[in-house]
Amino acid sequence: MYSLLRSALFLLPAETSHYVALDSLALLVKLGVNPFADRPSAQPTQLMGLDLPNPVGIAAGLDKNGDYIDALAALGFGFIEIGTVTPKAQPGNPKPRMFRLPTKQALINRMGFNNHGIDYLLAKVDKAKFDGILGINIGKNRDTSADHAVNDYLICLRKSYSRASYIAVNLSSPNTPGLRDLQFGEPLKNLLSTLKTEQIKLASEHNKYVPLAIKIAPDMAIEDVENVAQCLLDTGMDGVIATNTTIDKSSVAGLANGQEAGGLSGAPVFESSNKVIAALAQYLAGRIPIIGVGGIMSGEDALAKKQAGATAVQVYTGFIYHGPKLIGNVGRALNTN
Ligand code: FNR
Repeated sequence: MYSLLRSALFLLPAETSHYVALDSLALLVKLGVNPFADRPSAQPTQLMGLDLPNPVGIAAGLDKNGDYIDALAALGFGFIEIGTVTPKAQPGNPKPRMFRLPTKQALINRMGFNNHGIDYLLAKVDKAKFDGILGINIGKNRDTSADHAVNDYLICLRKSYSRASYIAVNLSSPNTPGLRDLQFGEPLKNLLSTLKTEQIKLASEHNKYVPLAIKIAPDMAIEDVENVAQCLLDTGMDGVIATNTTIDKSSVAGLANGQEAGGLSGAPVFESSNKVIAALAQYLAGRIPIIGVGGIMSGEDALAKKQAGATAVQVYTGFIYHGPKLIGNVGRALNTN
């Protein structure tokens, strides 16, 4: 069913087909029709103190504005991450900015945090019927300087705190200049300790503890991964999401679209993501859970993430290529092993 639909969708430009597919899904779900459901069976999983019904999540970036929360929930995801959202609405980069590389089961995107802003997203969260685990992924506006980045994260943290099950702090998109520099050294330490102080304050104000998970890039030397891990421990972070897209496009050189600027996702990022997960797992030794994401195209791929040290997984590009059946396949692979 999905492969037929995919052939039609893939005739459209990548970003257009994204919205056609999600709008159609949302309409079907509203009408009470869900032809795709291959929901993973119950597989209760503890993650950052949260009770997931199953460990298969949708990664950030698919539903940047919270427009499709109930539609995604109907597919059986055990947790849904929306965003990246920024304090103010912004248009993102000029189109086209999303490209398919079908022979590699990959995408390159340079969306640039196109989103309607935090207030729009929170209104959508309030309207959604979904009462499961909802992550809100936060970032900074493009025109906010690196020196003031922390203010953007604080604005989004404060505004989304009461509505989120967890908050993902995105430090790893390659499409916002300077963002990835926040993953290193003093800027990382300063940002995370400021967010921690605010989280503690908000927890007492709201009488609710909302975990913070940091999303990192796959393009890091092992030593850098270990430095990040130590900083996560030092600043009391609750989780780490590994990984975002890669800027290493050597594996797709020479292919149509292979030289497009942006982050590469899907099968080509699988190995580098797994290396980061394994290095984190070794260093963290279970003290902070890892959400594994990057190149999951099958149940087997998801199992490799679990074996590398991930407690839960997320999919994005695999979901575009394989459709909703991937959710059930991943759930089954993780359940039996
Ligand atoms: C993304 N990703 C992403 N991540 C994030 O933290 N915030 C975002 O806004 C986006 N936006 C986004 C747009 C598009 C078009 C893609 C393909 C990806 C990254 C995504 O969540 C995931 O970390 C990577 O794509 C790796 O996983 P997959 O796609 O290989 O399963």
